[in-house]
Amino acid sequence: MIEAPFPAARLRRTRMSAWSRDLHAEVTLTPQDFIWPVFVTEGPRERLRSLPFVQRVPLNELGREAKAAAALGIRVIALFPHGERRSDDARTALDPANLMCRAIAELKAAAPQVGVLADVALDPYTAHGHDGLLAADGTVDNDATLVLLTEQAVIQARAGADIVAPSDMMDGRVSRIRSALESSGHATTQIMAYSAKYASCLYGPFREAVGSAGALKGDKRNYQMDPRNAREALREAALDLAEGADSLMVKPGMVYLDILRAVAEGSPAPVFAYHTSGEAAMIEGAAAMGALDRERAIVEVLTAFRRAGARGVLTYHALDAARLIGG
Ligand code: PBG
Repeated sequence: MIEAPFPAARLRRTRMSAWSRDLHAEVTLTPQDFIWPVFVTEGPRERLRSLPFVQRVPLNELGREAKAAAALGIRVIALFPHGERRSDDARTALDPANLMCRAIAELKAAAPQVGVLADVALDPYTAHGHDGLLAADGTVDNDATLVLLTEQAVIQARAGADIVAPSDMMDGRVSRIRSALESSGHATTQIMAYSAKYASCLYGPFREAVGSAGALKGDKRNYQMDPRNAREALREAALDLAEGADSLMVKPGMVYLDILRAVAEGSPAPVFAYHTSGEAAMIEGAAAMGALDRERAIVEVLTAFRRAGARGVLTYHALDAARLIGG
């Protein structure tokens, strides 16, 4: 393609007024692009020390929160439980009366028009804070963990989850979960696969929120991806699609925009980005120091995910962002 030379080409022409900038914008950012992660607790409402604008929500206030989010245009909420019973065998993950399942049901009852996304992984339930069961050598036992994840996804679907999102990074989980959902009468329950999830330092406030920070022994590098790898993310994405995922996710998102772009370009299915708790904290910390304008940072960062190819974003800033862009 040939561009006209200056002065025929003056790229500033289209930037001169707000209507024109809007008209020429290559991507949009709307509240329906956001998935809002919520930490549910049976304890009191409490701010996170490491991410103070986020509060754990008491179960009996979840419905009210969901309706408020829906009023701002948020269509999907991702649930995470705080304070579930932990054990080496993670058996509470399979209890249909656990906090997670009650929260799913509560949310569905209070705001039936809001989609419910349930995280599938054992870290809220293990004594050691890992996403799966430990083998004798201290690594996570892939195949033993699959048995639990599969059952966990089915009880979440039974409780009313619309999307189950395996965040555990075990090999083969998507196909196992898909066939278990099909054979248990949940053929229309979606799977959003955390396909490229990295062993990152950017999950700190999340681990505080679900109470796995103190519990976690070691790190997750024998199952989450190595931050040095990009091409491997394409293999993860291809496998998840082949196994029946309806949508994919890249996580973290902000520091891994290159991965997001590559996966989004290669995937015929929608790809989502997780603006992780540590990345949210980067904005909050910088804003608190006066280094940047918090509101502009939120909108700019969320726009970057859309520009890089994300269909949507899981973000703790969903409500703030919806208010900001909603006018
Ligand atoms: C657990 C899970 C994590 C996140 C989502 N699901 C943490 C981890 O893998 O240790 C991180 C979310 C965030 O930091 O916002 N499987």
